[in-house]
Amino acid sequence: MFFQSSRRSVSKGKLMEFTSSPFFPLVLGSIGVVALYQLLLRVRQKTHIQDAVVVVTGASSGLGRECAKVFHAAGARLVLCGRDKERLQDLVKELTGAADSQRKTYPPSMVTFDLSDTEAVASAAVEVLQCFGHVDILINNAGISYRGTILETDVQVHKQVMDMNYFGAVALTKALLPSMVQRRSGHIAVVSSVQGKIAIPFRSAYAASKHATQAFFDCLRAEVEKFGIEVSVFSPGYIRTNLSVNAVTGNGSKYSALDKNTAEGRDPHDIAMVMLNCVSRKKKDVLLAGVFPTLAVYFRTLCPSLFFFIMASRARKEQKLKDS
Ligand SMILES: NC(=O)c1ccc[n+]([C@@H]2O[C@H](COP(=O)([O-])OP(=O)(O)OC[C@H]3O[C@@H](n4cnc5c(N)ncnc54)[C@H](OP(=O)(O)O)[C@@H]3O)[C@@H](O)[C@H]2O)c1
Repeated sequence: MFFQSSRRSVSKGKLMEFTSSPFFPLVLGSIGVVALYQLLLRVRQKTHIQDAVVVVTGASSGLGRECAKVFHAAGARLVLCGRDKERLQDLVKELTGAADSQRKTYPPSMVTFDLSDTEAVASAAVEVLQCFGHVDILINNAGISYRGTILETDVQVHKQVMDMNYFGAVALTKALLPSMVQRRSGHIAVVSSVQGKIAIPFRSAYAASKHATQAFFDCLRAEVEKFGIEVSVFSPGYIRTNLSVNAVTGNGSKYSALDKNTAEGRDPHDIAMVMLNCVSRKKKDVLLAGVFPTLAVYFRTLCPSLFFFIMASRARKEQKLKDS
């Protein structure tokens, strides 16, 4: 009893000592600044996304589907794009039924088209613009992956991946850009990959398409800044989706297997939440990868020979596994 009350009075004394020290207002002030910053971020997010017309490509599955959900919940007027009409209709139904009592939400629109068909993209862009009259945010998310050796891959497969991942995003962006320039506002986001910054063996077609994507959107950012248009490039590491299942192989057939790395990847909902946050904060270039891929990005620039050595030994190991 005696010890308990003396311990209490000691801690009370320590608290009094701390509150009267010169550090106390400093700590209190820092907490206040952080809280104010968080509040400002939330207000900014609310104003940037609420009522904004947001186009999401590849909305029928994986990351695109999660982006649709989080932007819808944040009050966006969505235009969902993909090839699979039924899956898009299901998502429209699901989101229309998911009304939020705290925020005004809208039933999404949808436009189906094949992004790798440049002519189809041009007429789809007209349809997209007709949905709400303009586009505030374009999220170029759709993509396909690839597995194979360069030796055994048809050039046609390289073209197919490039047509989808690179020219699809370029064509849609270019088709919607004039209306953004005219309004002197807009935000164009693209989902690239950590493989847009480093190339790993047996992914040549995919890595090349994502490197091209990074380069195009970096150029675009610089060119459209004067019109008040923002550009964000997202470079995630592995995400738990069907990307590897839908990947093409060297002869154009479907890979149809869920890779271990993809199965153990990050939750697509978490990535979509980070994207929502970063679009609201108008972040220009976001690497969403773990420690090793992030280190690899730095090694590629600062110590290329070490990076090449690691990639060559990775290629040898993967080939050995395949051959065994
Ligand atoms: N999963 C990962 O580990 C990972 C890592 C880094 C980056 N990424 C990137 O994240 C993005 C989303 O991929 P995901 O992981 O969500 O894969 P996913 O589940 O396979 O989704 C791909 C989406 O792209 C659409 N798509 C594919 N080909 C199309 C075409 N020709 N025309 C129109 N739409 C097409 C698909 O829609 P339909 O089938 O309805 O056409 C689907 O909605 C991709 O750009 C991918 O490169 C993924």
